[in-house]
Amino acid sequence: MSAATDADLGYIESLGLEQLRTAVSDYLGRARGVAVDPSRTIITTGCTHALGLISHVLARRGASRIAVENPSNVVVRTAIERGGLNPVAVPVDGSGFCTDLLSEAGVDAVLVSPAHQFPTGAALTADRRSALITWARNSGSLVIEDDYDAEFRYDRAPIGALQGLSPDAVAYIGSTAKTLAPGIRLGWAVMPPNLYEIVADELNNSMRHVSGIDQLALADFITRGEFDRHLRQMRAIYKRRRDLLVSGLATHVPDLRVTGIAAGLHVVLQLPSRDAEVATYTQALENGIMIHPLSRHTMPGYDGPAGVLIGYGAISDAAIPYVVEQLAAAIRGADRGNGTQARRILGSKKP
Ligand SMILES: Cc1ncc(COP(=O)(O)O)c(C=O)c1O
Repeated sequence: MSAATDADLGYIESLGLEQLRTAVSDYLGRARGVAVDPSRTIITTGCTHALGLISHVLARRGASRIAVENPSNVVVRTAIERGGLNPVAVPVDGSGFCTDLLSEAGVDAVLVSPAHQFPTGAALTADRRSALITWARNSGSLVIEDDYDAEFRYDRAPIGALQGLSPDAVAYIGSTAKTLAPGIRLGWAVMPPNLYEIVADELNNSMRHVSGIDQLALADFITRGEFDRHLRQMRAIYKRRRDLLVSGLATHVPDLRVTGIAAGLHVVLQLPSRDAEVATYTQALENGIMIHPLSRHTMPGYDGPAGVLIGYGAISDAAIPYVVEQLAAAIRGADRGNGTQARRILGSKKP
């Protein structure tokens, strides 16, 4: 605050303060391989804000259908719908978004999370990344890359952003929701040249931009190297937590399948049926453990495995053995056939 100028505290540029757009662009270029310059970087309140803006702009230009991963985050899909686009479900398998089904989906745009698919945890394979770019170039359509948690990859260096392969065809969106905290509400978007002005115009006219004070704080945090230091430190902490969680569960429930790559802030435990999923969720909740059933994020037509999502971003190391015991008990209880009872308790309500 002491370094803020009068201009920083006046009616600021809706697209973001220059110092933050420069800091973010520099970070995205070196850490994620995004082809970026500050003039096409926009500061947002997070991925959902960016998606709402982009969807609105696409809808105004006549687009109506956008392919989304099935399953995908229900909150993210809501932002798209509110923006005026209809999400069209395209399946995801162990290699990520099924690009071979794209041409028959009849869509104007695609939203993907290639580095670490939410929620399944798959990484989009190299051949599918290039198929997606080829589709976008041939059809003149837009790919939106949701890079929501790519900073956290534990078994190798994270794969660079898809946007780097084709900056003209990809809109890149990112957030501090996973790296810092969801409540901070700060994120960014890098627009392809043909969309930049119209998205900027939309943001300018809505005046719904991020507080200049928050932007100054983040710019300072990044330029002093604190953001990189924080990420290095958190990567080690989250990796340890994930290892403790996964190895603990493997000891208690040896045949349990943990799916997805070693990345992000959640793991997916595969379960034998939707009944087992609901029962595990219900039992865990009764034991004070909040997990999410995969079906919270599935769309009609989903025929993949059942499962539950366990977020470990906010569990302390000391609490992990207790969490593991409770989860293992919930999974074993579900296995003994509590599924039908749990379904009865939950009725038709979506958990
Ligand atoms: C797929 C996906 N995208 C984006 C986000 C974050 O959105 P926001 O930056 O608006 O908080 C999340 C949060 O869990 C997510 O799961």
